Amino acid sequence: MDDQKADRSIDRRRFLHSAAAGAGVALVPAVWTQASDDKADDINVALLGAGVQGQVLMNTCLKIPGVRFKAVCDIWTAFNQKRVSRILTAYRHEHNVYVDFKEMLDKEKDLDAVIIATPDFWHAEHTVASLKAGLHVYCEKEMSNTLEGARKMVLTAKRAGKLLQIGHQRRSNPRYIFCYENLIKGARLLGQIIAVNGQWNRSAREPLGWPKNAPIEQATLEKYGYESMHHFRNWRWYRGLGGGPIVDLGSHQIDVYNWFLDALPKTVTASGRTNYYDKKTHEWYDTVMAIYEYATALGPVSAYYQTVSANSSGGYFETFMGDEATLLISESTQIGEVYREPRIAPDLWTKWVNMGYLKAPRQITPSKHKPALPMYGDETPPPFKLPRYKLTVQMDKPYHQPHLENFFEAIRGGARLTCPAEVGYETAVAVLKVNDAVEAARKLEFQPDEFAV
Ligand SMILES: NC(=O)c1ccc[n+]([C@@H]2O[C@H](COP(=O)([O-])OP(=O)(O)OC[C@H]3O[C@@H](n4cnc5c(N)ncnc54)[C@H](O)[C@@H]3O)[C@@H](O)[C@H]2O)c1
Repeated sequence: MDDQKADRSIDRRRFLHSAAAGAGVALVPAVWTQASDDKADDINVALLGAGVQGQVLMNTCLKIPGVRFKAVCDIWTAFNQKRVSRILTAYRHEHNVYVDFKEMLDKEKDLDAVIIATPDFWHAEHTVASLKAGLHVYCEKEMSNTLEGARKMVLTAKRAGKLLQIGHQRRSNPRYIFCYENLIKGARLLGQIIAVNGQWNRSAREPLGWPKNAPIEQATLEKYGYESMHHFRNWRWYRGLGGGPIVDLGSHQIDVYNWFLDALPKTVTASGRTNYYDKKTHEWYDTVMAIYEYATALGPVSAYYQTVSANSSGGYFETFMGDEATLLISESTQIGEVYREPRIAPDLWTKWVNMGYLKAPRQITPSKHKPALPMYGDETPPPFKLPRYKLTVQMDKPYHQPHLENFFEAIRGGARLTCPAEVGYETAVAVLKVNDAVEAARKLEFQPDEFAV
């Protein structure tokens, strides 16, 4: 590096360092500031783990101004590493490639942050090493497959004074933020939430394969904790590597339960079984049904969650059921509705319709509202008769973009992280206990201090 470049790099890191130090304490509106022409506030990142999700995050970052990839680390040199490197070169991101993360952290002297998208069982080691190297970290969910690992991540981030964002991207999604801040909190349209229902069901699928001309050498696989290419590709299903669908998928949505209820669960009961796949290749349960009990400021809440891995009925969504209305929301932008209980007058709702956030159901447009929905007496009206208001708040970016933007804004000192390590830890405690509850075959309690590090 020539002297001039070195000076600019030191100035740039000093600027970003002081900006991020302020981000932990100041609540500043999240405003995106475009990188200036001299790129003094460019954020230099490394991608650690260039698989499916690493590529989603990289592609999203390529849409965000002022983010420069300087390094890629992945053990699958003949495939994922090669593919990502080729794309970055095409986008003129001058970068180095690595197999070993320690070598990358040792050699790369101009990084600000690392984006980690390796399998769950590597997250703690990769995150802790990156934080200790003085870098901010965006680490994918599940934060870690063990609470011990997750705890180390929280403590190291604190000690290092670095930002650690966990990849529960719904926390930065404008549709979710709108529902929480305006419908649930501000207007209290749901009334008292008493139950939650959510799921992620998906079709049966074949185990993941690999191009036969691009395997990883057995010695390398073993060095990084994999017994074979099958084990490496299908890590999610193996104990000690992932946590099964309840952790892989459920963690996103159970995180939303905690967020929207403003509470942490008191108990969990769960059934987990392998109903479809071969237990030899699918060590974790393919079908899990869990019930959490919460005590919220407005009263007790029972929250159900299911994940089925061989049937896609209903897809994925979360439903928050209050005594005045129900919110149905999903990361999928096609799903987002609020159902008003027929006994509740629509007056309060009209404001949200007039502001354009909700679209009124046809039969009760504000001007034509007749209070007389059919009277059912004690009979429950069929669900399709409930007045459905469509959520019109848009999310017109790739799903992970606002969450990455929040991370980069926080590095610059312009925002607070929406899912800092402490929040990711609370979610990990809630979710990992489902597998314990299955094992124990009884209701397990959470102690309040379990959620704190
Ligand atoms: N937030 C989301 O919506 C979302 C979606 C999918 C996956 N994820 C998370 O992203 C992570 C990765 O999932 P994926 O589906 O991309 O998996 P994947 O198997 O497709 O990719 C993992 C990559 O990491 C590499 N790798 C494995 N061990 C490594 C090591 N020790 N050092 C360097 N590279 C290593 C592999 O070669 C592979 O390229 C997981 O934690 C997963 O839970 C998050």
